[in-house]
Amino acid sequence: MDKPAETQYPIEEILRRRWSPRSFSERLVEPEKLQSLFEAARWAPSSFNEQPWNFIVATKQKPEEHARLLSCLVEGNQRWARAAPVLMVSVAKLNFDKTGKPNRHAFHDVGLAVQNMIVQATALGLFVHQMAGFSPKKVSETYGVPDGFEPVAAIATGYGPAKDELPEAFREFDLGARKRKPVGSFVFEDHQLGAINISCHGTKAYYFFRCFIASMMNA
Ligand SMILES: Cc1cc2nc3c(=O)[nH]c(=O)nc-3n(C[C@H](O)[C@H](O)[C@H](O)COP(=O)(O)O)c2cc1C
Repeated sequence: MDKPAETQYPIEEILRRRWSPRSFSERLVEPEKLQSLFEAARWAPSSFNEQPWNFIVATKQKPEEHARLLSCLVEGNQRWARAAPVLMVSVAKLNFDKTGKPNRHAFHDVGLAVQNMIVQATALGLFVHQMAGFSPKKVSETYGVPDGFEPVAAIATGYGPAKDELPEAFREFDLGARKRKPVGSFVFEDHQLGAINISCHGTKAYYFFRCFIASMMNA
């Protein structure tokens, strides 16, 4: 089902098309397409080319494994993610291979790999829905995640159903509008001006930058 982003400025079509559904088609993901997702993840940039990403994967081709990974999600996510034919958990390696020192960008780089995966998935007609709602502890225990590694996010992927096939329970969610903060609310410069207090979506936040985007866009 299409739900393209309504953008303030032009962006690539594939970025407009990506969104996170709660409904998935029963169609299984072809193994070669799944491999393309990991290949895309592989070519993500990373700090010192450390490539700190790892993925635990379970597909409906192996129902017991799918159920095992599903059980690591919070109940609210299990309700919809059980329909997704592929479930994953991304896992970050927290220290550099060479020095053993903490890699402050490990989570960042895992996110980059996942975004690469998502772009590839979108190109292949697949949808991806990431989740913070899972138990890292249960993942670590279930899969024997070693010290120095940390589960980052759960990920559901598969084909989406057509608009008229959306299950009733998730229909409202999947038909809901996609919302974003405006560009001007998160682009800043002039750090020497010190902290300024801005209100964002009703929450007071302190930023060490001053909003610049309006003048940049008018330049
Ligand atoms: C790290 C991360 C964690 C998320 N956790 C959840 C989650 O636990 N449950 C859920 O339904 N959606 C989750 N989402 C999906 C977001 O709610 C969704 O991406 C956001 O509302 C924007 O919608 P869109 O992806 O359709 O553009 C998560 C997304 C990310 C990137």
